[in-house]
Amino acid sequence: MYKTCRALTVFDEKAGKMFLSVLCIFVLSLAGCQAQWNVGIGIADTTGPASEIGMMGFAKAGQNTAGIHTRLFSRAYIFDDGVKRGVFVSVDMGMMGQLLKLELVEKLQEEFGDVYNHENVVVSGTHTHSGPAGYLQFVIFDVTCLGFYEQGYQVLLDGILESIRRAHGNMKPARVFYVQDELHEANINRSPTSYLVNPEAERALYDYDTDHLFTQLNIVDATTDEPLGLINWFAVHPVSMNNSNHMISGDNKGAASQFMEREINGKDTLIGQGSFVAAFAATNLGDTSPNLNGPKCRDTGLPCDTEHSTCDGRNWECIAMGPGEDMFESTYMIADRQYQKARELLANRDFELTGAVNFVHQWIDMSKQEVSLENGETATTCPAAMGYAFAAGCTDGPGAFNFMQGTNESNAFWDIVSGILKDPSPEQEACHAPKPILLDTGEITFPYRWHPDIVDTQMMQLGDLIIGAMPGEFTTMAGRRMRNTIYNAAVDNGASSDTKVVLAGLCNVYTHYITTFEEYQRQRYEAASTIFGPHTLRAYQQQYGALTASLVTNEAVPQLEPPPNLHEDQISLIPGVEDQYPTNGLTFGDCTLQPESEASAGDTVKVRFVSGSLRSDLKVGGTYLRVEREQDGQWITVHTDADWETRLYWESDDPINGGNSVEIWWQIPSDVQTGVYRITFESAFKDPEDAIVKPFAGQSNEFNVA
Ligand SMILES: *[C@@H]1O[C@H](CO)[C@@H](O)[C@H](O)[C@H]1NC(C)=O
Ligand SMILES: *[C@@H]1O[C@H](CO)[C@@H](O)[C@H](O)[C@H]1NC(C)=O
Repeated sequence: MYKTCRALTVFDEKAGKMFLSVLCIFVLSLAGCQAQWNVGIGIADTTGPASEIGMMGFAKAGQNTAGIHTRLFSRAYIFDDGVKRGVFVSVDMGMMGQLLKLELVEKLQEEFGDVYNHENVVVSGTHTHSGPAGYLQFVIFDVTCLGFYEQGYQVLLDGILESIRRAHGNMKPARVFYVQDELHEANINRSPTSYLVNPEAERALYDYDTDHLFTQLNIVDATTDEPLGLINWFAVHPVSMNNSNHMISGDNKGAASQFMEREINGKDTLIGQGSFVAAFAATNLGDTSPNLNGPKCRDTGLPCDTEHSTCDGRNWECIAMGPGEDMFESTYMIADRQYQKARELLANRDFELTGAVNFVHQWIDMSKQEVSLENGETATTCPAAMGYAFAAGCTDGPGAFNFMQGTNESNAFWDIVSGILKDPSPEQEACHAPKPILLDTGEITFPYRWHPDIVDTQMMQLGDLIIGAMPGEFTTMAGRRMRNTIYNAAVDNGASSDTKVVLAGLCNVYTHYITTFEEYQRQRYEAASTIFGPHTLRAYQQQYGALTASLVTNEAVPQLEPPPNLHEDQISLIPGVEDQYPTNGLTFGDCTLQPESEASAGDTVKVRFVSGSLRSDLKVGGTYLRVEREQDGQWITVHTDADWETRLYWESDDPINGGNSVEIWWQIPSDVQTGVYRITFESAFKDPEDAIVKPFAGQSNEFNVA
C-alpha cells in the first residue's frame, strides 16, 4: 500500500497529474497510514568518568578529566509516520563511534526486536572537545588517552540506549516544522587560505567563507501546539573550551541546549530532567571555529602567519580565542547566540514536514572506492593515512600528538604501538599525493586496526527534509557540494523542488575530515586529516547521490560487509582507582573551605571538600554536588553539577589533606531567590584497606543569599 502510494506520488510529480496525489492522500487516510506523525523524545545522562581519564578532541596527552563544568547528555528523537520510524540522536560527545553503534543496535534489538536497526538509527556527536576519551575502537583514537576505557564506554552505550528507550516510551501525535535562517557572529573559518583555493566561480555562489545557515526543526504537540522539542544544526566547532580545560563540558552546544531547555521546562526543573529537549547538533563544521578573535600569537598578540598558522615558525604559539575574556565567557557567548536564534525560530510554523519517514544505510569500504572524475577518468580512494600537518594540530588546539615529532615526550601506549609503524608503500604514497604521509594507518593492523575502512553511509527522510548522516567533519565547501549533490539527486528522482537538505556531522563512525579536492592540495590540518585521499569527497558525493535516489524512490539498497567489532581486542593501560586516606585527621566529605556567611547575586560562592577519585561512583543521572535552599524546614535542590552556574573542580593533590579534593563554585545568578542556602557533595571512595567502594557525603555551613 505504502509503496504504491510512494510510487504514485513520484509519478504524480513527473506527470503533473494532481488528481493522483489527491486520490493517494485519500487512500492513505483510509488505509490508516495517515499524514499524522508520532514523535517520541528522550534525554539521558552520558557524562562518564570525571577524573583521571584522557579527553577526546584535542589529542593532547595529559589533558585528563578533573571535574565537571556541565554534564553531558544524549538527546533522542523518534519520528514515526505510521509505517516506518526513524531515530535521530545527538550526543554531547566528541564523535559517534563504530563500536558504540554496533553494540547499540544489538542492545536495541534485544529489547525491541527489529523496530530499530542499523538503517533507521542515526547517532551524531556534537563534537564537544571536553568529554572523556577511550570509547573508540581504532588504535589512533586511543593513543593519547592510554587506550580503551571500558567504564566510560559503558556509560555512553547505556546513556544513548536509555535516551532512545525514553523516546520510545514517549510517542505522541506531533507536528514537525522546518525553518532555516542565518546566524552571524558565532563562527569563523579557521582555514580561510584553504577555502580560497576552491574555484572562483564556485565561491561566487556564496556570500561567505563560512556557513551561517541555522536549520531548525520545531516539534510541537499535534493538538495543543505546545513545543515538545527541537533539533537544530549550525556549523561551529564546540572548542570554545580550549585544551587547557580539564572539566567535562558540553561546550557551546551543550550550554545552548541547557539554556533553551531551562527556558521551556522552567527554572524549577533540574537540567536533564525536563520533557522539552533541545539538541544543538553538529553539521559541516570541519573548518569552522567559535574563537572569533581569530588566531593570534600568544607572545606578541599579533595575527599568526595565515598560510601555516605559526608564529615565527612555532605552531604552539598560535592560538585562536574570543569573543569573551576567557574560555568560559567565550563558551557562554557562543552558546547564547545559538540559543537566542533557536528561541527566535521556535514559534515558526511556516513549513510543515509531512508525508513519509524513510531511511537508507549502507556500509562501504572507503579504502577502495572507484570514483568517476569530471574529466571522465576514474580514480580511487586510498587506505587511510594521516599527513604531517595533522600532527601540527590547528589554531583551536595546536600541537596535537606533539610527542610524535621527534621529541622524547611519549607515553606507554604509544611505546607499544609505535614500534610497528611502517613506511608507506609507493602506491600508497602516490594515492595520497600531495599529502606527505606521517602515519600509514590503513596498512597496519597491529595490535588491532588503526582506522576504519568500512564506513557507515546513511540518510534519513522526514517528509521534504533529507538528513545526510556524515561519517566525519566536512569543511564548509565540502558540505555545500554534498548538500547540492543530495538535492539534485532527490529532485532528479522525482522529489519535490521544495526538498530541504541538512547534513548531520560526526555520525556513526569517525573518519576525521573531508575537504574538497582543491583544499586537499593545500594540505592544511583539515586536508592532512582527510584520511582516504584526494578523492574522498567525490567518493562520498557519488555514494550519497546513489543513496538519495534509493531513498526517494523507496528502493532497498543491498547491505554490504559490516565493520568488525574489535571490543575484545582493546588494550587499556589506564590505571584503576587507588584512593588514599586523607591526612590531618580529616575524613572523606569534610568541608575544608567554608562559604562566606552572606552572598548575593553576581558573587561566586566557593567551598572545598575532601574527596577520592570520582571514578568509584559516576553518579550517572545524578549529581556530585547540590546547591540547596531551605524552604519550610526542607532542603530543595536548586542546582546540580549539570548546570552552567556550577563548577566542580577536582584536584589530585590537595595541600591540606594530601589527597584529592573538589572545589565547588556557584556563580549566583541574577534571578536568584533569596534565602538560606548550603552546598553538599556526595561521592564514594575505594577503601585502601578492603578495596570496597564506600559512599560518603558532606555539606557546607549554611549561608544567606540576600
Ligand atoms: C585557554 O583559555 C585561557 C583563558 O580562559 C587562556 O588563558 C589560555 O591561554 C588558553 N589556552 C590555550 C592553549 O588556548
Ligand atoms: C628527554 O626527557 C628528559 C626528561 O624530561 C630530559 O631530561 C632529557 O634532556 C630529554 N632528552 C632529550 C634528548 O631531549
